[in-house]
Amino acid sequence: MQDNNSLKKSGLSRRDFLKKSATVGLGISVAAAAAAKERKIKTQPGVKKAKPMDLVRVGFVGVGGMGSAHCRNLLNIEGVEIRAVCDILPEKVERIQQWCVDKGFKKPMGYSRGEFDFKRMCQQEDLDLVMTATPWRWHVPVCIAAMENGKHAAVEVPAAITIDECWQLVETAERTEKYCMMLENCCYGRSELTVLNMVRKGLFGEIIHGGAGYLHDLRALKFSSQGEGLWRTDHSIKRNGNLYPTHGLGPVAECMNVNRGNKFDFLVSMSSKSRGLNEFAAEKFGANSPQAKQKYALGDVNVSLIQCANGETITLYHDCNLPRPYSRINMVQGTKGIFEDYPSRIYLEGVSEKHDRWEDFDKYYEKYEHPLWKKEGERAKGAGHGGMDYIEDFRLIDALRQGRLPDMDVYDAAAWSVVSELTEISVANKSKPVDFPDFTRGKWKTNKPIHVVDFK
Ligand SMILES: NC(=O)c1ccc[n+]([C@@H]2O[C@H](COP(=O)([O-])OP(=O)(O)OC[C@H]3O[C@@H](n4cnc5c(N)ncnc54)[C@H](O)[C@@H]3O)[C@@H](O)[C@H]2O)c1
Repeated sequence: MQDNNSLKKSGLSRRDFLKKSATVGLGISVAAAAAAKERKIKTQPGVKKAKPMDLVRVGFVGVGGMGSAHCRNLLNIEGVEIRAVCDILPEKVERIQQWCVDKGFKKPMGYSRGEFDFKRMCQQEDLDLVMTATPWRWHVPVCIAAMENGKHAAVEVPAAITIDECWQLVETAERTEKYCMMLENCCYGRSELTVLNMVRKGLFGEIIHGGAGYLHDLRALKFSSQGEGLWRTDHSIKRNGNLYPTHGLGPVAECMNVNRGNKFDFLVSMSSKSRGLNEFAAEKFGANSPQAKQKYALGDVNVSLIQCANGETITLYHDCNLPRPYSRINMVQGTKGIFEDYPSRIYLEGVSEKHDRWEDFDKYYEKYEHPLWKKEGERAKGAGHGGMDYIEDFRLIDALRQGRLPDMDVYDAAAWSVVSELTEISVANKSKPVDFPDFTRGKWKTNKPIHVVDFK
């Protein structure tokens, strides 16, 4: 394995080197494992609890679609104040400033002097937490600036897009002893949390298999002249794999105790051909338009299989370029039964009324609704994505105020996000198996489940 200096001299990034070395026969699994080993023993794994605080002072970076939704939630949660707002577009900053003033808060400081102004914000402002909902390429730089300047970080999904970036997050969080939580709202979905509750109570028996994915027709969004249309399409042009793995995977990983008694071991991944974006662009802009003639690297449907250390398997889909109804699959199967979403249905052996037949899941909420939803469900009504975004933000702020560890830590952020580059490597190499780096450096064996189910 080459070191950083020789990589730099050769003009190859670590990412290029991994892909290239696999192609020339080093063996993909070996290459990815080497990337993991390279980082060992620099710092010791572990996350320290921060002291409780009455008021959480937040700086927000990137207040487009999702950032605005978070800010709206924060304005309705007790014990939190938005003290600074950063976006490359001043009008977006002003909009949030106005929202804060309208709610009776002091006007937050605004930062909009270019793409790196988040650094100035992190250096100058007295903040407890920096939250980020920028385009993906800025996630890691913002989190690092936050932690290096003594602030906790919370970042939209995926937290990082390369193996190297995942290690940067882990190492910085350990060195600075700051939290870095990925804002995986789907872990707070009503059905997801209810199922997690039921898994913990043993209703599904021993968990054997999970199904997850992000199946969302994003064609119109990818060709929009605003919001994600300005940056997300570029990833479809250049990358082929699962570009957005965490929405479906996070909740399933929690059911399987990944990083807490279990871990993702390796994956294989395969992509279909790419047609959806070209066809859509030809219809929308004409067959000779640059969008229709563009070559898109991203296969329309990417399917991956993950094997966990304790023997469970997970199928993971990324399917965003074709006409289809929305789904995250959200399936959990054990020795005693199975749950599957879209629509929510369940079969529990000896419990479900009819042998072999799905039951509607609704009646299970009565008995197994997660305590978080029982307590906060009413207030979550009307918030983004069916209320789960509010529950997520509430839970993060509450953890900081109470001095409790956030539900998801930097190791979760890394293990769930790293799927992107691992699938890209596998796809580029005829679906060869690729090992997951162990970001916890062995701690997964003894880490206890701290997940949301321990809610108090
Ligand atoms: N969890 C969810 O359900 C969910 C839903 C949508 C988006 N997201 C995630 O949220 C993030 C943002 O997505 P979005 O839909 O809000 O995109 P968006 O394009 O609407 O918003 C991004 C914002 O970041 C700003 N920005 C760009 N570069 C910046 C920089 N260097 N510094 C400061 N601001 C910068 C842009 O001006 C824009 O206002 C992405 O990571 C996306 O994957 C998550």
